[in-house]
Amino acid sequence: MAGRRISTMLSRSLSLPSTVTSLGKKYGLRRGMQRFSSAAVVEEPIAPSVQVNHTKLFINGQFVDSASGKTFPTLDPRTGEVIAHVAEGDKEDVNRAVSAARKAFDEGPWPKMSAYERSRIMLRFADLVEKNIEELAQLETWDNGKPYLQALTSELPIFVRLFHYYAGWADKIHGLTVPADGPHHVQVLHEPIGVAGQIVPWNFPLLMFAWKVGPALACGNTIVLKTAEQTPLTALYVAKLFREAGLPDGVLNIVSGYGPTAGAALASHMDVDKIAFTGSTETGKVVLELAARSNLKPVTLELGGKSPFIVCEDADIDSAVEIAHFALFFNQGQCCCAGSRTFVHEKIYDEFIAKAKARALKRTVGDPFKKEIEQGPQIDSKQFQKVLGYIKSGIDSNATLECGGAQFGSKGYFIQPTVFSNVQDDMLIARDEIFGPVQSILKFKDIDEVIRRANATRYGLASGVFTSNIDTANTVSRGLRAGTVWVNCFDVFDAGIPFGGYKMSGIGREKGIYSLNNYLQVKAVVTALKNPAWL
Ligand code: NAI
Ligand code: MG
Repeated sequence: MAGRRISTMLSRSLSLPSTVTSLGKKYGLRRGMQRFSSAAVVEEPIAPSVQVNHTKLFINGQFVDSASGKTFPTLDPRTGEVIAHVAEGDKEDVNRAVSAARKAFDEGPWPKMSAYERSRIMLRFADLVEKNIEELAQLETWDNGKPYLQALTSELPIFVRLFHYYAGWADKIHGLTVPADGPHHVQVLHEPIGVAGQIVPWNFPLLMFAWKVGPALACGNTIVLKTAEQTPLTALYVAKLFREAGLPDGVLNIVSGYGPTAGAALASHMDVDKIAFTGSTETGKVVLELAARSNLKPVTLELGGKSPFIVCEDADIDSAVEIAHFALFFNQGQCCCAGSRTFVHEKIYDEFIAKAKARALKRTVGDPFKKEIEQGPQIDSKQFQKVLGYIKSGIDSNATLECGGAQFGSKGYFIQPTVFSNVQDDMLIARDEIFGPVQSILKFKDIDEVIRRANATRYGLASGVFTSNIDTANTVSRGLRAGTVWVNCFDVFDAGIPFGGYKMSGIGREKGIYSLNNYLQVKAVVTALKNPAWL
């Protein structure tokens, strides 16, 4: 069932276009896969056929070494072994990249080019990504550890979709005129903001790239993007495709490197006009402070979460179990919006636990290049240790460990799908973002109570509610303080749907029309009218 489940869940939950489902068929998503039990799959990792051709920084349209000549290793999370050594950018490289982006913004042609031409370059780029989809998916899986079929049939097609979406916006961004008292003609111009600094995480390297680069380019900005140190490879590959598509030099610059060096240099740069960040709440605060202490550049933040997934007594229980499982375990549990507090009504609690446990035990874990695998390794040893630490804390605080709870196999960063029941609100596993394959199931009695408990968190990124009663759905969706409420579904991420957080889950929204505001300045031009009769 695992193959069919992946296919169905991905198409249902990620609203995939038909090309995606046919890719799923082409690459043999099929029924009847065995449950995880053996570590053999991990001992001899499948060798991807893609070559790692781009490991230098991408500045002003060229692949260049770092100023210091230093490199850092990017690792294969299946084994912990080195895939490639990548140029390590630091302050001086960020300075070079910002100068290139500044020049490309101030002297053009990008911001001054016809919006239609910008749109055509973005569409050509999307076509090139489609042509190279298998290599890109392989590279994403190799560097990150996510299932290859997930990268190939879901994330890459959504990446392409996002660039189509933003290419469509490029020539539809315009200002307005407003009536004003007195003999004045008032135009409101929407201008690009300038040089955008973008810092992305490792859990969805290409998708986070698209969420940020797409709107910035559509609005006519230039960019310096810092990839996560764990996953630098695919952004460099797509940089080459952007160059082939005709993107002018300096419009997109990619600096690989670490957060406290390259990332901090970008966030505090005096010549960067805006910063967009996705990652931990802790680092988000640092980025906001660096921006404030330097040139007060506006900041958008997409941060952590502890999203509730509420299953009411009238829910379709099998579907709720399956989607709750997906909501938490998808992408090895490494999702900012993971449904990491599964609240279940007391009347269906025991049945739900039994089914959730059975589903977790069926989850296929192993080499993410294997077709039948639903779960690969965690990204690195730091995250692996962090997740195991939370599992220990769950056990120590007397939550009931239903299944899992340990490393899977003996190599790499694999963790058994883990389910805790009898989780209480004050336990650490119910409060902190675990970012791993650990489902925490809590019991509730009534709707008012569960809304109150669901909101009793410093986060407010996403949420889900399962019910067959429209009034319950409306009550819960209005009561939850979160940027997204999914009703009888989860992780639906169409390009036009805004995404972002309340409270400490962030500032601002990405995707959809709202993301454009992050990359635009508003200028009022007030012109005196000589002849008041024209008013
Ligand atoms: P992080 O927030 O430190 O890293 C995210 C990005 O920020 C990376 O590109 C990193 O190099 C950069 N960064 C780090 N320190 C910086 C600084 N001082 N200035 C500027 N940029 C900086 O997250 P990390 O350490 O990779 O993961 C820790 C936890 O963060 C995870 O366990 C998870 O809970 C959360 N996280 C949340 C993500 C999300 O999608 N909201 C994504 C990744 C991690
Ligand atoms: Mg890596």
